[in-house]
Parts: sequence; C-alpha cells; structure tokens
Amino acid sequence: MVINTIGVVGAGTMGSGIAQVAAQSGLQVTMVDVAPAALERAHKSIVSSLDRLVAKDKLDAAGRAQALARIATANELAALRSADLVIEAATENLDIKLKILRELDALLTPEALIASNTSSLSITVLAAVIQRPERFIGMHFFNPVPVMGLIELIRGLQTADATHAAVEALARRLGKTPISVRNAPGFVVNRILCPMINEAVFALQEGLASAEDIDAGMRLGANHPIGPLALADMIGIDVLLAVMDVLYEGFRDPKYRPPTLLREMVAAGLLGRKSGRGFFSYR
Ligand code: 3HC
Repeated sequence: MVINTIGVVGAGTMGSGIAQVAAQSGLQVTMVDVAPAALERAHKSIVSSLDRLVAKDKLDAAGRAQALARIATANELAALRSADLVIEAATENLDIKLKILRELDALLTPEALIASNTSSLSITVLAAVIQRPERFIGMHFFNPVPVMGLIELIRGLQTADATHAAVEALARRLGKTPISVRNAPGFVVNRILCPMINEAVFALQEGLASAEDIDAGMRLGANHPIGPLALADMIGIDVLLAVMDVLYEGFRDPKYRPPTLLREMVAAGLLGRKSGRGFFSYR
C-alpha cells in the first residue's frame, strides 16, 4: 500500500514536526486538534522551522510555499475520513489516546492504517481497542522531528507484516531511517536514553554537582550535543516522568525508579521549555 494522504492528530511539538516533514516530502497532510490555539501555534512553529531551512539554503522559497500549501488543519477527526494513514500524536495519556483511536477506527476506510507516536504506552494495548489491530503500529519520532533522523517502528503483538512494510517505506520517503522494534516498555531508544537522563536528575538531587556542571560534563566529557538536563527540558519533564514510570512499572526493577525531584517538578508545573522553566529557565 502506498501512502499519499496522512492525518496527524495533535498539534503539539511532535504533531507539528510530523506534519511539516510529511508535507516537505510531498504528502497531503491534515492536522487535527480540538484547540484552535494549538493549531495556530503549530502553524507558527512550522513557518519558523521552514524559514530556518530557507535561511540555510536547505529549501527554496517555492519548496517552502508548497510544503505550507500541503498542510490543512481542522478541529474534528471527521476531516481525516479519507486519509491513507493517521498518526496519533496527542497528549501522552492512555484514556485520551484510546478515545481518539476508537473514533478513528469507526471513521476511516477499512484499508487505512493507524499509527501512534506514543513515547511510552504499549502498542499492543492501544491496538486492542481497534477492530483491525493488524493495521496498527507504533511510529515513534524524535524531537525535533525535522532534524532527527530516526523513526522507531514498533510492532504490537498483532501488527501485520504489510502494515510494517507500508510504514517502513513511508519512513524512508520522509528521509528518516526506520528501526524495527518489538513492543516492550520504552521500546529501544527511551529504554536506554531516559535512564541516563534519570541518573543525571539523581546526581542533581544528591547535590553531586550543579545542573550547569552536570550538563557540561556530559557535553564535553561524552560529546553529547546537549546535556541530559537540557535534554529533559526539551523532552518535557512530564514526558520523562511518564516514560520512567512505564519502565519502572513494566519491569518492576528499582533501577528505573524516578527521583522525587522529577515528581516534585511535575507537581510544581516546571515542565521544561514548554512551561518556560525546568532545570533551566527559558523566560
Ligand atoms: N527545525 C528545523 N531545523 C532545526 C530545528 C527545527 N525545529 N531545530 C534545530 N534545527 C537545525 C538548526 O537549524 C541547525 O541546522 P544546521 O546544522 O544546518 O546549522 C541544526 O538543527 C542544529 O541546531 P542549532 O545550531 O540551533 O542548535 P544545536 O547545535 O544545539 O542543535 C539539536 C539542536 C539538533 C536539537 C541538538 O541539540 C540535539 O541533537 N539535541 C539532542 C536531541 C535529542 O536527543 N532528541 C531526542 C529526544 S528523545 C525523544 O524525542 C523521544 C521522546 O519519546 C522522549
């Protein structure tokens, strides 16, 4: 199956990045969000990301205009009725995702595929609410989507080979490298990356070093492009905590326990870049 029209549910950081990359690759995209303000923010962020590419001669003015013209927006899932593939990139909350998936299942054509960009929830559990779970797959993008080269393709217990093949071809068309992963808590990248960031938060909580020095240590001593605490701010402290909770509960292994500091920060609304403050201030 060749995918030409896609729907993206959720106009947050990930949804807008996915919509942008798909439109730049020649696909027709409809981005849906219940909140008009989120669609406005997404449009602004896509325009500024495309402008950045134009300023660096990576995209010409015509390519910028074509990409923008390929993105439609809507407030209702009904706008996705004829999509070949819908990528769900809504809030990382099981009940919200299940509700969206049930609605999509009732709406889409029988041939349409459904993917979720979940960073932590089980693909098998999400697929279980769909009539045709063989047409469901995890498509995990990385932030910032226009820059990061990877997509994890996560097969649930019932994902069909044909679904995997169609989405693998799409990932390459988007200019990304897909890796195939079996469904398990944290998949591959977050299973390795998030415990490293979690350990940096323990180091801070224990007063081992300042946030600046912990990050400088990993930038200069391990050649990471940004430090783990700055990366936590970029990912979102709430998302990081959700991933650690899933790893901890999924494996019941204390090595994955999140530090109190992480939970406190979420309770205080210090969620990283998106709230203006996390381990560092962005105001
Ligand atoms: N759109 C388009 N281009 C962008 C961009 C965006 N949103 N953000 C950055 N860029 C481009 C810049 O224009 C620049 O391009 P150039 O190389 O041609 O000059 C390049 O990316 C580097 O950007 P900057 O010079 O502004 O800043 P940095 O050198 O610090 O790079 C970064 C930014 C690429 C984000 C880098 O800091 C990085 O790689 N950080 C780590 C990112 C990471 O690990 N992401 C994964 C998070 S985990 C995840 O997403 C999974 C989830 O489930 C939790």
